[in-house]
Amino acid sequence: MTAGDGVGGLLDEALQLCQRGLFKQAEAIYRRVIAIDAGAADGWNMLALVLHELGRHYEAWECSLQATRLRPQLPAYWLMRGNIAFSRLSYADAESGFSRAIELAPHYAEAHYRRALVHHRQHRIAESIAGYRSALRYAPDVAEIYFKLGEALYEANAWEDALRAYEAAFTRDPQNALPRGNALNLINSLQWASLPAFWQAEISRNFERLDVDKNRNVSVALRALKVKRGFRQLLATVSTPTQWDAAAQSVVMGDMLFLQLLRDTLIADAAFEVVLTRMRVMFLVDAGARSRAPLEFLVALALQCFNNEFVYAATAAELVQRAALLPELEAAVVAKVDLAPALERSLAVIAMYGPLHELPPVVAYAKVHSVTSPLSLLMRRTVQEPEIELTLRASIVADDAITDGVSLSVRGMYEEHPYPRWFSIDRPPPLTLRDWIDREAPTAAASFGFAAGARVLVAGCGSGHEAIELAAGLSDVQVLAVDLSLASLAYAQRMAADLGVSNIEFRQADILGLGVLTERFSMIYCNGVLHHLNDPAAGLRVLVQLLRPRGLLRLSLYSELARVCVTAARAEIQATGMPATAAAIGGFRQFVLRQKSDSVLAPLSGFLDFYSMSMCRDLMFHVQEHQMRLPQIASMLAESRLTLLGFANLAPEAIGAYLRAYPDDAPMTDCSNWDAFELQHPQTFAEMYQFWCGGSEAAC
Ligand SMILES: C[S@@+](CC[C@H](N)C(=O)[O-])C[C@H]1O[C@@H](n2cnc3c(N)ncnc32)[C@H](O)[C@@H]1O
Repeated sequence: MTAGDGVGGLLDEALQLCQRGLFKQAEAIYRRVIAIDAGAADGWNMLALVLHELGRHYEAWECSLQATRLRPQLPAYWLMRGNIAFSRLSYADAESGFSRAIELAPHYAEAHYRRALVHHRQHRIAESIAGYRSALRYAPDVAEIYFKLGEALYEANAWEDALRAYEAAFTRDPQNALPRGNALNLINSLQWASLPAFWQAEISRNFERLDVDKNRNVSVALRALKVKRGFRQLLATVSTPTQWDAAAQSVVMGDMLFLQLLRDTLIADAAFEVVLTRMRVMFLVDAGARSRAPLEFLVALALQCFNNEFVYAATAAELVQRAALLPELEAAVVAKVDLAPALERSLAVIAMYGPLHELPPVVAYAKVHSVTSPLSLLMRRTVQEPEIELTLRASIVADDAITDGVSLSVRGMYEEHPYPRWFSIDRPPPLTLRDWIDREAPTAAASFGFAAGARVLVAGCGSGHEAIELAAGLSDVQVLAVDLSLASLAYAQRMAADLGVSNIEFRQADILGLGVLTERFSMIYCNGVLHHLNDPAAGLRVLVQLLRPRGLLRLSLYSELARVCVTAARAEIQATGMPATAAAIGGFRQFVLRQKSDSVLAPLSGFLDFYSMSMCRDLMFHVQEHQMRLPQIASMLAESRLTLLGFANLAPEAIGAYLRAYPDDAPMTDCSNWDAFELQHPQTFAEMYQFWCGGSEAAC
């Protein structure tokens, strides 16, 4: 056997290991190959690939240089070289690698695509659009390329073309692997006399899926409803209390999308709130209307009221009438008879005004009677699940070490009103932490040190939405999620169990006390939390100690400039000494809804948080809120020796406008530029400053 035969066998063996994801073992074999034959270009190229997979980009780059030196005519080697440079954020090297591959093989779709991605990352949008189009010439059926083209066209404000590209992408993506968020946001932001059929269907399809967070798409779904005739008629009566068209009502009560929205989301829309509040009164006072309505609709409306924690305005007379419905129901319960259809409807109406699990006869009834659908859904969501949470709450070990005064009062608030109010998560196929960071935080990825057995900390996880979404989306990590509030943790624990997410552990703890932990974390998420501490910088210092070397921190903090309306609301609430009770929160909401459009308070009704009792309290009645400006955040990061590695969730329009104003800041991390930009565009960070940072060595 010759040396060449031996090398061939080793290469085959290593390739099989790579195909099984066993990169460490494959690395050892490739190293043997190049020890036997230093001129084995394939050995160098494949070693580059496995090192790249292992996140050791610098070593990978050296091997890739060697491979292209040995066989400079092979386009695939240049593609590899470009890919590695791209992961190292060396955009000039990446571009020249892909360009060389294209010179050698002009029809090389992947090289065109990858070069377009480089241009896109650098926000050279016109070049990226041209590149995606070239890639599509040679690979006309790849959904992902159409998708990226759609994203680039959106950033270029070429909305119609963007929608065409998104449509081409999604029709080729039956498994829904591509995120719909931006496309649906774009649909939502445009004016439509009638929504194109494809998008109408796409919105409905999205709501039928079990792997999407339906709450994220409420506003576009409401747009889809608003262009339908029955809804148009009902909504037209919002400002004038006129008689409702019975035909329009029966159409909306049978609309599947509307039913899903009512059951599974928070309908965050002031006009719909008026319609739903009026319908609720109608079902309460008019037994005829109640008996004509499908029980399924009454249950859906009751669930919406449960979802928003009964935030809609109710008069004292309505509450008296609700109480009047109870005796008949209680009599049936005591007599242990099944509920007649009229009583089933009464039960649904009772559930529209307050929690059923606080009504002992209903709880007793739910225990002994096997209620059938759709009432069973109402019982499960509003009686059984709250009971499970109460049990879980008692089982979570309480942390006696919470002694800080602000932490205690913040905890008290979230025990009464956990945050956020959520019902589903986005659940794309899970990724390894490394691939996830590549996708979610591309500008931070090069600074990240991958390590086996990685752990993620979610500090201040609240009711667990983001923590559970993270755990479900990561295939190779354990998540530790901590919060002050047991009620929030109990909700989170129940939801994690319901969703079958098991790589997560919930603990009660104060961030300020986390210094006692001995474990270190590859990634720490702390969103919307530090600004509720007495001293946010003190909390940050604790988190930094818990970060592994080359770990990443994802923070979100309130922007002072974006929250002018919140500041005004807080001042008003403080000046009038309003307590944070349900009655006062509900009353203040109605005051806000009555404001003229030019009032400083008017934008509050544009926040999702405005539409549930607990989130509304979080928005306007918080016991402790700091707001910041970017220079202040920059000094806080510097004090903790952290480097800003990139903002997250910026709107495509903001990216485009920023780069036009500051073309020299390609990484888009200059806080003083951003501060000046924000002064001009104060709503840029309405969803908070969301950003990635890492220890100073991370930036090397
Ligand atoms: C607005 S909620 C954000 C929840 C979650 N991070 C999210 O974005 O959905 C703030 C959460 O931070 C928690 N929190 C505030 N101060 C904390 C502290 N010192 N230690 C731990 N958790 C804290 C609160 O209990 C609350 O659940």
